[in-house]
Amino acid sequence: MALVSIRNLTKTYQRGPEKVEVLHGVNLDIAAGDFVALMGPSGSGKTTLLNLIGGLDTPTSGEISVNGERIDRMTGGQLSTWRSHNVGYVFQFYNLMPALTAQKNVELPLLLTKLSGAQRRRNAQIALTLVGLADRTSHKPNELSGGQQQRVAIARAIVSDPTLLICDEPTGDLDRQSAEDILGLLQSLNRDHGKTIVMVTHDPKAAGYASHTLHLDKGSLVEQQADAA
Ligand SMILES: Nc1ncnc2c1ncn2[C@@H]1O[C@H](COP(=O)(O)OP(=O)(O)OP(=O)(O)O)[C@@H](O)[C@H]1O
Ligand SMILES: [Mg+2]
Repeated sequence: MALVSIRNLTKTYQRGPEKVEVLHGVNLDIAAGDFVALMGPSGSGKTTLLNLIGGLDTPTSGEISVNGERIDRMTGGQLSTWRSHNVGYVFQFYNLMPALTAQKNVELPLLLTKLSGAQRRRNAQIALTLVGLADRTSHKPNELSGGQQQRVAIARAIVSDPTLLICDEPTGDLDRQSAEDILGLLQSLNRDHGKTIVMVTHDPKAAGYASHTLHLDKGSLVEQQADAA
């Protein structure tokens, strides 16, 4: 069974009287343990699709099952509980809290759980060690490089041990070397820690780190004759 199963998915945004259909009947299966790159022109609907898979938004019609659960049918409250147990998010601009240390940023998702303070600290340290930042736990975001900030964001994304990692242009703001380090880290989370990853990217080299690449064009998935991977 696929980890993510999408059937006839549409998304329409309403802006005043105007309706814009952004996804037109997407069908997609993503296997557990896969690392998928999602590419396509600006405005083709990549972020929209990613946010639907990660339960950050709800579809206009169609079905999304993750691990056998119909997330398209969940209420807002059910969805936020589901997200906190099942999905980690990595964004282009890290979205760290500037006033908090790396350690406290990584602990944030655990505040929603029943873990004790000591367990939260311990799990955050484990996640920061995994991303190679054991020696930077007390630094604040502005005391870290861009690549290090993205590592903190990845530690925050994996600290609850989610099955699925959703990454929207995770290397879009990084220099080549930091980008390669982050992509290597994602690949290791996929291969060595069993995380299923869906990553939006504009960079064919970044997509090369994934197991395969999907192409979105004007709201539909399209076949690509030659896959770079
Ligand atoms: N909240 C919204 N209301 C109305 N239209 C929206 C909204 N969010 C996105 N759109 C429209 O949906 C389309 C797809 O947007 P989306 O952000 O998914 O594109 P994208 O493929 O991620 O692009 P990029 O590569 O530039 O990030 C765009 O035409 C955009 O203008
Ligand atoms: Mg986008």
